[in-house]
Amino acid sequence: MIALQKKTLTPASAIDSEPKTGNEYHIPVLLKESIQALAIHSGGIYVDATLGGGGHTRAILASEKDIKLYAFDRDENALKFAKDNFLSSYQNLVLIKDNFANLRTGLALERVKKIDGILFDLGVSFNQISTPGRGFSYLHEGNLDMRMDESEKLTAFDIINDFPFEKLKEIFFEFGEEREAARIAAAIISQRKLNKIKTTSELSEIIERSTRSRFKMKAKARIFQALRIYLNGEIEALKQALKDAVNILNPKGRIVVISYHSIEDRVVKKFFQYEEKSCICPPNFPKCVCNKVSTLKIITKKPIIPSSQEISENRMARSAKMRVAEKRG
Ligand SMILES: C[S@@+](CC[C@H](N)C(=O)[O-])C[C@H]1O[C@@H](n2cnc3c(N)ncnc32)[C@H](O)[C@@H]1O
Repeated sequence: MIALQKKTLTPASAIDSEPKTGNEYHIPVLLKESIQALAIHSGGIYVDATLGGGGHTRAILASEKDIKLYAFDRDENALKFAKDNFLSSYQNLVLIKDNFANLRTGLALERVKKIDGILFDLGVSFNQISTPGRGFSYLHEGNLDMRMDESEKLTAFDIINDFPFEKLKEIFFEFGEEREAARIAAAIISQRKLNKIKTTSELSEIIERSTRSRFKMKAKARIFQALRIYLNGEIEALKQALKDAVNILNPKGRIVVISYHSIEDRVVKKFFQYEEKSCICPPNFPKCVCNKVSTLKIITKKPIIPSSQEISENRMARSAKMRVAEKRG
């Protein structure tokens, strides 16, 4: 049995009824840099696609008086935390419990057609990852759940216990970039013939046993990440939301994306590069026939990363990369 980290946090909203700063729930990453990158102006309409503990939300609201902000999260706990701790302080904040893949419909229901900037701070919050019952981390004992939206049906338990070998291998390889994907998938299949695999520690043990690499912790992190990304449809949601964001941004409106692993970052980088291009004809064509229009200007040629001081104060910042693009006028 692998020793699991004992120190786990009670969900921040459940500790007591005192208003919280938000940092117990999640410490916002690249806070100053992302707010600056949004280029917020008075009278503008903004979207925080990933409310979490509301660190970025509140910083956006503090940056200009006369703005309106719509904050999405698919996790009911994030909305509850905001309602319990700061929603009542802001007349100009609207919370939307939805997947940001539904950005356009979510905003349309609020009669919003155009926006002036949008922030995506991707992945999971500290609250989600450190709440044992939610099963997001191999460091915390809990049932294999991993749903960001707890009203969804499919859980990590279903994937681990019901999916065929080929599908498990594909998920581990595609979303975890795990080289020992086949070996780990095979070990899961043989273990589940004996008993259902129910908890984070049971899965963690199987990974520990089946990998040949010396870097067992990294393999565990990759497999847990892969399951989470697949289960929550994170990549499709991001692709859809980026497309929709470009369509609803006003000229000079900014898209700011903070990502935490190379798969997400690659999606954002490629999307920005494609949208910036004004021609996608093969290079040997004598003249342009594609009619492609450049919709975005890339502001960050290289991604912005947190300072070493920020990383030393907040380990969750260590893999963050921020990319920024601006809608063409
Ligand atoms: C890294 S946290 C955001 C932290 C936040 N910026 C803060 O300062 O506290 C990511 C949040 O986005 C939410 N999230 C992730 N993917 C989502 C999606 N597709 N739709 C809506 N919310 C999503 C998660 O539930 C989580 O609460």
